[in-house]
Amino acid sequence: MTPPLPEPLPADPLPVVAAWLAEATASIRNATAMTLATVEPDGRPSARMVICRGFDPQAGWFVFYTDRESAKGQALAAHPYASLVFHWDAFERQIRVDGPVTPAPDADSDAYWATRPHDARLAAIVSAQSRPLASRAALLDKIAETAKRSSADLPRPPRWGGYRVWAERVELWVGQPARVHDRALWTRTLARASDEFRGGAWRATRLQP
Ligand SMILES: Cc1cc2nc3c(=O)[nH]c(=O)nc-3n(C[C@H](O)[C@H](O)[C@H](O)COP(=O)(O)O)c2cc1C
Repeated sequence: MTPPLPEPLPADPLPVVAAWLAEATASIRNATAMTLATVEPDGRPSARMVICRGFDPQAGWFVFYTDRESAKGQALAAHPYASLVFHWDAFERQIRVDGPVTPAPDADSDAYWATRPHDARLAAIVSAQSRPLASRAALLDKIAETAKRSSADLPRPPRWGGYRVWAERVELWVGQPARVHDRALWTRTLARASDEFRGGAWRATRLQP
């Protein structure tokens, strides 16, 4: 059984998040996959999986990479806020994170792009994510065609890059016997400083399951 959260609760939830991510990553494939919920331009919610490619517990952001002209990119342009959910059944743990979203710095997107295999770069360059496609064969043809006439290094297209989700609310959940699960919520105020946010002190509250 996974132990419940400490009593009293830690002042800052992000070191706990870091420890949980490290534990999950050590034994679970794609452990940093997370649900990303956004608000569509028309105000409706929409959720999909993405991979968390970085987390800075000091600054308080989580980063994922995507096509910024995709449906999620358009949602974030209209409403720059997101909710994230991680869940690892083997550990009976859930993490929820809510907060504002900013584009990741270009240097970070370039650095992550440089780690992507050639095929993955090619696919990202050719695929206009979330747009209709006449057939799968049409996309494969376009990939083959682009591969023939592109330079070997395949630079990052400007529409492809990262988004940082800044932790303003963090909820940790641990499954416990007899469904008396353990939950705690941390909230703080974020102050915007150009493309970043600075977090105030966290307030921690245990919640009924
Ligand atoms: C496990 C998993 C991980 C994924 N990771 C990413 C990712 O990191 N970035 C991304 O753009 N799409 C990722 N996808 C695909 C998205 O779920 C989604 O299909 C795509 O981003 C288009 O979403 P949108 O139309 O809402 O913009 C992933 C899918 C799965 C199942």
